[in-house]
Amino acid sequence: MPIEKVGVAGCGLMGSGIAQVCAQAGCRVVVREVSAELVDKGLKNIEKNLQRLVDKGTISDSIRDQIRGRLRGTTDINDFRDADLVIEAIIEQVPAKREFFAALDKICPPKTIFASNTSSICITEIATATKRPGRFVGLHFFNPVPVMKLVEVIRTIATDPAVFEEMAAFGTQLGKVPVRTTDRTGFIVNRLLVPYLLDAIRVLEDGTASIEDIDNSMKLGCGYPMGPLTLLDFVGLDTTYYIANVMFDEFKEKRFAPPALLKRMVLAGWNGRKAGRGFYDYADPQKPRPMQLT
Ligand code: CAA
Repeated sequence: MPIEKVGVAGCGLMGSGIAQVCAQAGCRVVVREVSAELVDKGLKNIEKNLQRLVDKGTISDSIRDQIRGRLRGTTDINDFRDADLVIEAIIEQVPAKREFFAALDKICPPKTIFASNTSSICITEIATATKRPGRFVGLHFFNPVPVMKLVEVIRTIATDPAVFEEMAAFGTQLGKVPVRTTDRTGFIVNRLLVPYLLDAIRVLEDGTASIEDIDNSMKLGCGYPMGPLTLLDFVGLDTTYYIANVMFDEFKEKRFAPPALLKRMVLAGWNGRKAGRGFYDYADPQKPRPMQLT
């Protein structure tokens, strides 16, 4: 079944990026938020990203206009009724996701495929809020979605193998490289990335090195595009803290346990770039300054 119309639930950082890449790939896209203000904010973010592509000469004005023409914002869940695929990127809370999919299940025909962009919540737990666990997968994108080439395609024990392959092919249609994985907390990327990020905080906490030296070590010594503490600020400390707790709960392994400093920074609201401070102070976003934390 060709995927022609996509519904995207949530127009935050991830949802707006997902809506953008789907529209760029030629799909008609309806993106939903809970208020008109949030729809507007998300669409403005997409507009900014498309303009960036025009300014770089990657796409022409007319291609930008065509992409724009395929995108529509809404606050009404009923606008997903004729979607071939609905991708959910709403708040990372199990009850909110189950409630959303239970409502969606009543609106969409049985053929519609449902996908969650969750980074750590058990897909099976969300899928069982619907009567179509066979047509339910995880599609996990990476920030910034228009740039990062990967999409994790996740099957549960109930996912129909044909639907799983269809979603991997859809990942390719979006210009991404799909990797296939199963419903194990953290999937592939966060299973490997989260312990690394938490270890970087431990290295800072125990006084082994400074913020800048930890970041420079991994950037210049290993060729990573961002050091781990810069990446933590980019991803969001609250997000990482949430993921770490879910992973610790699943695996009961110390390497997934959030370090005390991370917890304190989240409690203080120092959640990284979006909050203006995290491991760095972003008073001047062009010149982040390391914070005094230890
Ligand atoms: N949106 C769209 N495009 C963006 C962008 C954004 N937010 N930020 C940068 N870009 C584009 C730029 O326009 C530029 O494009 P061209 O090469 O075509 O000119 C390209 O990305 C590179 O940008 P810059 O030159 O400005 O800066 P950079 O070289 O430092 O790259 C970066 C920025 C792509 C973010 C890079 O630093 C990077 O790859 N960082 C690591 C990001 C990462 O690890 N993401 C995964 C996080 S984990 C996650 O998302 C999942 C989870 O569950 C937590």
